[in-house]
Amino acid sequence: MILSIESSCDDSSIAVTEIESYRLLFHKKISQELAHSRYGGVVPELASRLHAEALPKILQEVKEFLPSIRAIAVTSEPGLSVTLMEGIIMAKALHLALHKPLIGVNHLIGHIYSLFIGEEARLPKMVLLVSGGHTMILNVEGYRNVEVLATTLDDSFGESFDKVAKMMGLGYPGGPIIEELASRGDPHRFPFPIPLRNSRRLAFSYSGLKNAVRLQLERLGTPTPQERADIAASFQEAAITHLLQKTRTAWDRYRPSSFAIVGGASANLRLRELFERECRERGIDFELAPLEFCADNAAMIGRAAIEAYRAGDFTPMEELQARPKSLIT
Ligand code: KG4
Ligand code: ZN
Repeated sequence: MILSIESSCDDSSIAVTEIESYRLLFHKKISQELAHSRYGGVVPELASRLHAEALPKILQEVKEFLPSIRAIAVTSEPGLSVTLMEGIIMAKALHLALHKPLIGVNHLIGHIYSLFIGEEARLPKMVLLVSGGHTMILNVEGYRNVEVLATTLDDSFGESFDKVAKMMGLGYPGGPIIEELASRGDPHRFPFPIPLRNSRRLAFSYSGLKNAVRLQLERLGTPTPQERADIAASFQEAAITHLLQKTRTAWDRYRPSSFAIVGGASANLRLRELFERECRERGIDFELAPLEFCADNAAMIGRAAIEAYRAGDFTPMEELQARPKSLIT
């Protein structure tokens, strides 16, 4: 079994996964969303303090598995250094106590493997990763073989939802709040510009759209509840249309037979619906991670770590460091 730890942002999570069968034996997550909500975003110092409380609590529950653990996996990049550190310190302590090897896992690779929890990986695949920190189109051939085809020039998809929610005084995280408000709004009421729509460039950009929403809010002064819902719906539609337009460019260029969306923002139902329809029309095989594994969790880290374990790809203790930024290569 592999014990895995995730603490890259505001979720403290531990999982235990059986190596041979990929079976998830234990998974628990304590989310800090409520604690950060009043600040409109994650406060790193508060987050790290809450991890220091939550991780040992969850660890108590996996004591029975400890004698069977063959490796300890932990998210080491990318993320907030002070929160990554909390998971890494726990992993190192377990390494010293159990004498089992460490596996530092890239959080983005973890999101990719959220597609394969409990099962064998189905690769190659083109993957759209949409989270709070990243918006990327990836060509995934294997655990150590991921090519970045497109990335964002400024804000990420999830981040733009967080920022629009903050602007409207709606709290954090913005994604689910905006999605809920949008369900009561007219997506065509405010025709926000679709970023980079006249460019063949394979890249994303969300800061212009965010500013267009800001200007519209300023123009409205005190928007009515219906106007607020219409803003949310029109923003969401433009944000997803941008994803879809750029992904079409990638599909035309790379002609994948299999495509998937991962990351916290892939929980968005409108996004799921639009991409599913388009993939069906194009005859591209379409996959999504189960809703419970879209957002940050340790199950995906454990699943990814099985690939590293099988390849003997371990991380020496002194090399296991928190890295806020990472490039997948
Ligand atoms: O993957 P994740 O849990 O954490 C990171 O690795 O960043 O993604 C969290 C991000 C947040 O920005 C959140 O607002 C966004 O995903 N998100 C959504 C939805 N649910 C979460 N964005 C749009 N629609 C949603 N339903
Ligand atoms: Zn994530």
